[in-house]
Amino acid sequence: MKPTIAQKAPYPINVEAGKTYYWCSCGKSKSQPFCDGSHQGTEFTPKQLVVNESKTIYFCGCKQSKNGMFCDGSHNAL
Ligand code: FES
Ligand code: FES
Repeated sequence: MKPTIAQKAPYPINVEAGKTYYWCSCGKSKSQPFCDGSHQGTEFTPKQLVVNESKTIYFCGCKQSKNGMFCDGSHNAL
């Protein structure tokens, strides 16, 4: 089963030090790029990210990155 493409571009998000985020790997969440529980009934589960440092992260929106939750440019080939 392939994940759903939420969008063919990353989501730039300013993450905050000390917070925990759950990236949606299934592509079905309505609160992209984060999990909203819509993966229930699929083989997908969210991926946890614990942030140590506030910064901007480009979360993968196409769900096809070879670098997990981080955009690696794979969306350009879709
Ligand atoms: Fe996609 Fe939870 S909604 S992993
Ligand atoms: Fe998925 Fe860039 S948005 S690789």
